[in-house]
Amino acid sequence: MNDLKIIGGRIVTFQDGPVSGSCMDSPLVLENTNIIIDDGHIVAIDSDGRTRETIDASEKLIIPGFIDCHTHLVFAGSREDEFEKRLRGASYQKIASEGGGILSTVEATRKADKKTLVVLAKKRLDYAFSWGTTTIEIKSGYGLSQETEIKMLEVINELRETSLQTIVPTFLGAHEFPREIGREEYIDIIIKKMIPEVVKRGLARFIDVFCEEGVYSKDESTRILLEGVKHGLLTRIHADELASSGGSEIASDIKAVTCDHLSYPSEKGINSMKKAGTIAVLLPATTLFLSGKPAPAKRFIDEGIPFAIASDFNPGSSPVLAMPLVIGLACLLYKITPGEALCASTINAAYAVGEEDRGGIEEDKKADILICNCKNEKEIPYWFGFNLIECVIKDGKFKKLLDNK
Ligand code: NIG
Ligand code: FE
Repeated sequence: MNDLKIIGGRIVTFQDGPVSGSCMDSPLVLENTNIIIDDGHIVAIDSDGRTRETIDASEKLIIPGFIDCHTHLVFAGSREDEFEKRLRGASYQKIASEGGGILSTVEATRKADKKTLVVLAKKRLDYAFSWGTTTIEIKSGYGLSQETEIKMLEVINELRETSLQTIVPTFLGAHEFPREIGREEYIDIIIKKMIPEVVKRGLARFIDVFCEEGVYSKDESTRILLEGVKHGLLTRIHADELASSGGSEIASDIKAVTCDHLSYPSEKGINSMKKAGTIAVLLPATTLFLSGKPAPAKRFIDEGIPFAIASDFNPGSSPVLAMPLVIGLACLLYKITPGEALCASTINAAYAVGEEDRGGIEEDKKADILICNCKNEKEIPYWFGFNLIECVIKDGKFKKLLDNK
């Protein structure tokens, strides 16, 4: 006897990924059928059989769990004063150059002990779960020293054991430069000390760098990321967020799984991403929050570059964790369809974090499924301020949720 059966409803999913071009707007729709789940997996669709439990999802929308493939979820403190400063005219870069920005969160995060960081992060994860996030990538990057970067990764790994989501850890030691030592010295510590320890202790799957004017140059980013590759880490890069800074241009050199942000990719960058089969990760909440330029999502569709969308949740540029809100913003800012945005937040996001057995509703995929209190997928971005998620099934386990009926 199998564990669980979901009956009825409108199932909306996509072909296996990464999905690109017009296929991103071609959802696979199944109506009035059923999904059979056993031992955490989808074992059959449209077949009958006895199960221990049944959920009646008639008249509901059934979609894969959201995968938030870019977050900075572990941090202490908050930056609402900076938010006000920006509204009064200061730029994100100006605030950073005066020691605020990322460095102010570094100060707060260094001071916080592991237990405090775990408690703060766990609350955020539970909130994200109630909005349908079943898998989430989390970066370090608010430590900027061997000791505190490792502390952050230990927290992220501890959360893996206790949280409802699947968590993918990323080492982002190169998020800024600490003020107490020189640039070269810090890069040396990342390369010679941090990367070997992270890898030896299995603390991260990915390595990331903030490649931007005033932070890590194209050459510095290449050196650090290639060292990660040498040690077996997968690569992603914060690229071309505030200006065309060369980040996407190194995609093929560093074998980038993802290039993230991409408001200003150059032609060379687009070609490099195509050559490497890189997935673009677009972050619409950040664009809105920093009054930035929307990434050229339509261009990526035309070029056949698959893209994912994510929250970029962090205290400086995106205080947003709710994926339905991110999906709504993506549609509005990039003028993409609800189907494209759903594809970008499920199957393509799964590939963006190396969780290829998630992100879709098909046989053999892990059973991460949302049952939503609406009739079709267009309603998710349309009602973007509402939580329509009624039930989250994570790894086949039936979790009853909020009263969103
Ligand atoms: O992805 N761009 C770099 N890192 C974050 C912002 C971090 C912060 O401001 O604290 C981002 O937007
Ligand atoms: Fe980021």
